[in-house]
Amino acid sequence: MKLLLKFNLVLALMFAIGIAATAAISRDLLQRNAREEIYEAAKLLIDGALAVRDYTSTNIAPLLETQIRYEFRPEMVSAFSANEVLKRLRDGNPEYKHFLYREATLNPTNPANKAVDWENDIVIGFRNGTLATPLLGQRDTPTGRMLFMAKPLKAGAACMRCHDTAERAPATQIAAYGSAGGFGWKVGEIIGAQIIQVPETAAQARADATFRVFMASLLGVLLAIAATLNVLLWWMFIRPITKISALADRISLGDVGATDFRAHSGDEIGSLATALSRMRRSLDQAMRMLEA
Ligand code: HEC
Repeated sequence: MKLLLKFNLVLALMFAIGIAATAAISRDLLQRNAREEIYEAAKLLIDGALAVRDYTSTNIAPLLETQIRYEFRPEMVSAFSANEVLKRLRDGNPEYKHFLYREATLNPTNPANKAVDWENDIVIGFRNGTLATPLLGQRDTPTGRMLFMAKPLKAGAACMRCHDTAERAPATQIAAYGSAGGFGWKVGEIIGAQIIQVPETAAQARADATFRVFMASLLGVLLAIAATLNVLLWWMFIRPITKISALADRISLGDVGATDFRAHSGDEIGSLATALSRMRRSLDQAMRMLEA
């Protein structure tokens, strides 16, 4: 088997093992990273929603105090603005389109915000103090695994204006939402949870995209290394050795007058070429002496 072929087979085997090991390790790492990124983004969105809530109740709600006597404006409700802002963020940015935001509440004003079974467990867990906050988790659904982050939502004194009793709440609110839910909350009570849900496939897609770029660049670097090694091997060994062996071949067949191969390098191959030339000259002299 040719030297170059042997070398390339060993190189290919080493690269294949290296690539497989790197792929296995990096795939796992990238998936974990992508999950962490998703959780970080979820935390940012939950905290952003909380800031929107705060802004609405301290800056917007007072401006609509007069208006509320005649017509209820949901814009003054912090839950409404938080939901609305997050919905726009999702609609306007493809990278957030999978981030679903909920203000899951045990006893909601708007039935759409009622905590469903698993959300219920989270709110109850927060109320009992058995769950850490922020809570990170995952759950399996018929449409695939979902990652979620949840933080408890507490009622403050300012919330009592609308969430204490139906009698105390603005009449226009009762007219718009009815008096079936969203009342009887207590100051300091955990009444619900902010929850961000993201399909695991979103994290997977991020990890896959990074994985492809990473593996493609690794492959590119390895191919460049292989090409360089091949050129070096050919230039430093194969080419001079082919010439030396051709020369040795001719000498062995008695062609002692063959032109020497001059190696310009001072390395081991160079010494071999020099030694062979010396041997040819000695042979040449010996032949001449015999002939004389
Ligand atoms: C001006 C009246 C008003 C005030 C003040 C108010 N809310 Fe509400 N809240 C509402 C209404 C109305 C809704 C239903 C909004 C919707 O989904 O359309 C609501 C919804 C919510 C929801 C979603 C669950 C549900 O009940 O539908 C949460 C959680 C919530 N409010 C918490 C609070 C907290 C915490 C405060 C105090 C920081 C507060 N609210 C202050 C009127 C108010």
